[in-house]
Amino acid sequence: MAHTRMFRFDLPVPQQHEPTRLLRMWPPLVMVVATAEAVAVPLRIVLGAQTMPAFAPLDDAAMVVFFIDCVINFRRAAAEEKRSRTEKLLLAADVVAFLPLQLVFGWSFLAFFRCLKLVRVARWMSLWRRLHLNRWNALRLVYFVYWLSLFVHWLAAGWLALRGIPAGEDGWTRYLHSLYWCVSTLTTIGAGDVTPTTNAEILYSMAAMIVGVGMYGYVIANVATIITHLQPARTRHLENLEKLGAFMHERGIPAGLQHRIREYYSYIWEQRLGYDESSIIDGLPQGLRTDVALFLKRDIVQKVPLFAAASDDLVREIALQMQPVIFTPGDIVVRAGDPGQEMYFIGKGELEVFGPDGTTPVAFLRDGDFFGENALLFDKPRNATIRAVKYCDVYMLDKSAFAAVVTRHPEFARQIEAMTAERRGRKKGT
Ligand code: CMP
Repeated sequence: MAHTRMFRFDLPVPQQHEPTRLLRMWPPLVMVVATAEAVAVPLRIVLGAQTMPAFAPLDDAAMVVFFIDCVINFRRAAAEEKRSRTEKLLLAADVVAFLPLQLVFGWSFLAFFRCLKLVRVARWMSLWRRLHLNRWNALRLVYFVYWLSLFVHWLAAGWLALRGIPAGEDGWTRYLHSLYWCVSTLTTIGAGDVTPTTNAEILYSMAAMIVGVGMYGYVIANVATIITHLQPARTRHLENLEKLGAFMHERGIPAGLQHRIREYYSYIWEQRLGYDESSIIDGLPQGLRTDVALFLKRDIVQKVPLFAAASDDLVREIALQMQPVIFTPGDIVVRAGDPGQEMYFIGKGELEVFGPDGTTPVAFLRDGDFFGENALLFDKPRNATIRAVKYCDVYMLDKSAFAAVVTRHPEFARQIEAMTAERRGRKKGT
């Protein structure tokens, strides 16, 4: 009978400090506005407000957004007991970024201070990277492209300011020419068709060339590494396979066995990206570990009819103690006559049960079934042999964990006994 069980992982868990959706969307919004300003401001300074009328509302919007952000950041800082030097500098940058200095003093270049908002953006970027460690390299690449694009844009605007726009020429075309100069200089290609003429232009070009060489070196040194590590799980898996191949070859492992080992690795790659679930969960603090363990084991908890009648407490305890194990086709999981050290719950797969002689098939066990309980309950040797027919994702409960659970929840042992008796009855009946 299909049944569902509600646990904490089924419910939206209210987190005390979890920001609302609006608050989560706020930094990206500020980032978009700050980036748009960082692009528009140098263009407006260089090309003049007449060429860029469409950007005027952006300025007003940016002022409002930066002001709200300033208030939010100050309120957050006020709630903190101790403010770091970095935080103080960030707050100062927030204030300067929203002040309409160019309107107060009348110098258009003061609008460039708006770009100070990017200091806060850089701070968020590093926080996002720490929060999304699994995408560390992808984010590194994205951030690099982001800052590089802005830098190229500013450099091109600077070049345009130095060269000026001859009367009657279109500002946008001149900007495009500047970009061309900028890219060819920074990539150290330097086609030579745009040459500096004034002293200021020569100095500017030299500075751009020096920066270009440094950046070129950075790109060569980093981007290739970033790209190869974009899929860390895959890289790790391939490295493991390579090591394994060398090991099996070195030790002369028979071809059939090698094939089974490779198949096993490809199975765990497909199922879990090659991760060892237990070792990852074990690294978490107790509270988180319970919630994650329950979440990961929700399938098995919902599949095993034995857990349907069990209390939430009991299921929680068992879920924490159960260890995931994989059996490959043909593996003997339990051998008749052996002492029993653990019992198993089948998450996915199929196993065949053979009688005490180890050869007479008596039953098949599938998803949601359990086995190995007899030896633990009655302290007897195994009464059957069990062999995996397919790949099996099984959860194992060892003897000591089983004993602890049974001591605290004697009803668990009674339920198992009842189900075992029912199984025996079914067998006699068939
Ligand atoms: P245990 O004796 O510990 O180890 C062998 C297991 O096989 C046993 O526990 C039961 O869980 C299981 N088993 C034995 N006979 C049957 C059967 N007829 N049908 C299903 N499972 C069985």
